[in-house]
Amino acid sequence: MSMIVAGVMSGTSADGINVALVRFASDRAGRARGPSPHKNLHSDFTLLAHEEYPFPAPVRRAILEMMNAELARVADLARLNFLLGELYAEAVAKTARKHRVKLDLVGCHGQTLYHQGAPQRFLGRKLAVTWQTGEGAVIAARLGVPVISDFRTADMAAGGKGAPLVPFLDYFLYSDQHVARIAQNIGGIANLTAIPAGASLREVLAFDTGPGNMVMDAVMEELFGKRFDRDGKVAASGRVLDGVGREEFGREYVARFLQLCHGASKPDVVATATALTARSIADAVERFVLPRFVIPRTAARRKQANHQMIVSGGSAKNPTLMAMLRDAVTQLGIKLHFSDEFGLPAEAKEAVAFALLAHETWHRRPSNVPSATGAKRAAILGKISYA
Ligand SMILES: Nc1ncnc2c1ncn2[C@@H]1O[C@H](COP(=O)(O)OP(=O)(O)O)[C@@H](O)[C@H]1O
Ligand SMILES: [Mg+2]
Repeated sequence: MSMIVAGVMSGTSADGINVALVRFASDRAGRARGPSPHKNLHSDFTLLAHEEYPFPAPVRRAILEMMNAELARVADLARLNFLLGELYAEAVAKTARKHRVKLDLVGCHGQTLYHQGAPQRFLGRKLAVTWQTGEGAVIAARLGVPVISDFRTADMAAGGKGAPLVPFLDYFLYSDQHVARIAQNIGGIANLTAIPAGASLREVLAFDTGPGNMVMDAVMEELFGKRFDRDGKVAASGRVLDGVGREEFGREYVARFLQLCHGASKPDVVATATALTARSIADAVERFVLPRFVIPRTAARRKQANHQMIVSGGSAKNPTLMAMLRDAVTQLGIKLHFSDEFGLPAEAKEAVAFALLAHETWHRRPSNVPSATGAKRAAILGKISYA
């Protein structure tokens, strides 16, 4: 029996809503769970369609305001939860209509307003907390199908950081007996999933590498009044300031970054912000991932090494960033690819991931990756709103 699931994602860039329609060939319910239960999952699903809906400017402004603890008011937070429910439902309905698809289920990540993955003390208890907004009950009511939302909390209740969750998809798309792969997503924040050749799900490594488009976007806003550096044109016209030292590349404070770039031309500042993202990714790969991969020792052998980086996320569309990243990882013996080459449009991957997680939850199967989140056990993710 096949099932069509809509995955809905809106990321930290608060740029808009991504909707992916995914068909799962069989529900596989009742199938025995061996040591590697999902090994053939990727052959079981097909991406039918992907659409992107930018948030109207006032909605984007409101979301960014609500992410700011100082500005957010509780009444507006409640309103935003219901408003986003309506907007997600409209985005899904439009996509389904356009592609003439009848849905069975929706998996909606929601908009993260607050995420603190590491426990901190609060009123005498140490708590890790997270909050995604966008009311599932509203989406279910509008669309007439069940909705799964709030995926991160169950992992955190099981002792995990609640992130990243996409490694579950990465593993089933990209794990290979002979090729070591890094799935690199570059959204607001950049994060990677490293899958050594022949690795089991338990050997998957995943973490944030640092800024994705966050610093680039903020610098564009500050210096040019633009949302982002379309096609990397500004960065391409600037020169990277090498004086802005390696240490500072790890931090995300744009004000401090601009201070460090003081006196430089605007394109140079954007070029440098772009290099920051590329270098912090390469740096993380060199320090934390390569030690886990089997690396040929000689330079000649390294040229033939079968390591791949597969890029997804909005910044895959920035050719200047991609050129910098390709340069940096080539030196590490890694070939750069795009998720499009593997059948997934770069900007659709995260939405597809939440369709997959919803599908697993619907069948009462866990889908966190404890080695990625730090959870003590596998957990079934999300909450169900029935139509
Ligand atoms: N044509 C483009 N040229 C350069 N950058 C782009 C382009 N299209 C999208 N982007 C970048 O992608 C970002 C959105 O990426 P996305 O993966 O949706 O991030 P998030 O998951 O944080 O929402 C934009 O803010 C912008 O920085
Ligand atoms: Mg986005």
